[in-house]
This record gives sequence, structure tokens and C-alpha cells, in this order.
Amino acid sequence: MTEKKPEIIRDPQELQRRLTELRKQGKTIGLVPTMGALHYGHLSLVIAAKEESDISVVSIFVNPTQFAPNEDFDKYPRTLDDDVDLLSQIGVDFIFAPTPEKMYPRGFKSTVQVGGLSEVLEGSFRPTHFNGVTTVVLKLFNITGADFAYFGQKDYQQVAVVKKMVRDLNLPIEIISCPIIREEDGLALSSRNRYLSPTDRKNAIILSQSLQKAEKLIHSGERNAQTVRDEIRRMIETVPNAQIDYIAIVDPDSLIELENIAGNVVILLAVRIGSTRLIDNWIVRPK
Ligand code: PAF
Repeated sequence: MTEKKPEIIRDPQELQRRLTELRKQGKTIGLVPTMGALHYGHLSLVIAAKEESDISVVSIFVNPTQFAPNEDFDKYPRTLDDDVDLLSQIGVDFIFAPTPEKMYPRGFKSTVQVGGLSEVLEGSFRPTHFNGVTTVVLKLFNITGADFAYFGQKDYQQVAVVKKMVRDLNLPIEIISCPIIREEDGLALSSRNRYLSPTDRKNAIILSQSLQKAEKLIHSGERNAQTVRDEIRRMIETVPNAQIDYIAIVDPDSLIELENIAGNVVILLAVRIGSTRLIDNWIVRPK
């Protein structure tokens, strides 16, 4: 891999100015929005951005507006030096690492709300979450003028909500969803995995195991979504400190909960293992 020190920019206007110049020279821009604490899941997005765009930009910003007061904003891992090292190894062009004051100056009053898709599943447990996500993501799109933006499929609903915002508001950007990256035992990579105690880490594989079992059931002909949900619940409840927020089998585009499995579906889970809330999902294509 090529070692190249990325340029770190903290001021939105400075980045906007620099990238406007590059766009005028005909360069395409690929953006990977992150909250830092980077792992291989993020790096796979950065690699895709580098392959497909002339200029790669990674934003690192723990966005306060997408956390509710009772959530982990203060304790969310902040590892900028390590993140910069990793991104230098991959050879990113720009890291955008603003402060909250730069992103939300005094008097900031605007919110982007995507109705419908952002109110179900995660949205019903975290009612203000997606408004915070879409507001900051739209700001990042406008600051960078990116042609492409890369998101992980691990946050399936987030990708759906961002795509809907792009369609509804005619934003000139293409959203690219990249596959979930998993540990060898199946646990989906997440910055929050580092909160898991060793026992919780072992128990956390029940999420991907139950999703794989669900896929097997569907492939062997099960078409009743409730039967599949019940089996997932049964498996997760074998873990003593697991608490299920939701198990959903939905249409991949509308995220509407299904009773019968007729075409492709997405199974989404949100489960607390101890005090760590994990999400995972699996796209199932019935045979
Ligand atoms: O997925 C994330 O890390 C965040 O929700 C995002 C897209 C960077 C917005 O803050």
C-alpha cells in the first residue's frame, strides 16, 4: 500500500474552497462520512472511494445531533491519531475533522427530516437520530460537493434514509452501499464492539448466527415471516444478558414489515448485549 499523509482540514469553508478548485480542474470527489474509531469496515469504504474517484475525502466527526441525551455521545471512542495513521497507510487525500462549533455555529437552526423511512425500526427507538444523520450528511455533501458517497450496509436503514433524501431533494451525488465486513466468527465490525466485555463479545455472535439460521429457514422454503422471527428470538434469548429491541423482516426498499416472504427481504436486528447496543442485518434472496 502507498503511504501518503492526508491533508487534515478542520474548517468547512477551507475544505469547500479546496475541493471547488479541484472540481473545476475536472476531478471527481469520493466522500466517506465517518465518526472515526476506524476499523476495516470503514477502510473498505475508503478503498472503494479511492478506486472510483480522483480525490478521496474521509470526514471524521462525532456528530452530537444524532445522539439522544441518554446515548453514548460522551463515551463514543475518539481516536483521531490512530485514524490518521490508518488513512495514511491507504493514501487518502483529505481528512475533514471539524469541531462541533464549526459544524453547528451559534444560531444554527436547520434540520433535514426524511419522513416515513426514518420513523420506523431505529427511528422508533431513537426518534431524533436520523434527523441528526441527514442534517450532518447533507452538510457534508454540500461542503465537499462529492460526486460519490460511500456508506456501509451494516447501517442498512441509514443508507435507505440517505438515498431517499438524495432522491427527494435532487442532490447531485451517487450513494454507494458497500457490503458488511465481519469478524471471522461472524460479528459485524462496529466501532461500538470495543465496548463489549470478553463474555459479551462471545455472546454477540448470536446476532449473525441467528441471521444465518433465518436465511437457511427461508432457503429451505419457510415463507411465514413470524415463524422466522420467532426462531431468531428463540436463539437470541439463549444468551442470558441479551435484550431485543427489534427483529424485523422488511421489504428492502420501503422497510415495511412483511407477513409473507415472497421476494427479497432484509432481516434487521437491534439487540443489547449487556450495556452495548448492536445492530446487524442480512439480505435474503429466497431460492
Ligand atoms: O454512520 C456513521 O458513522 C454516521 O451516522 C455518519 C454517516 C458519519 C453521520 O454522522
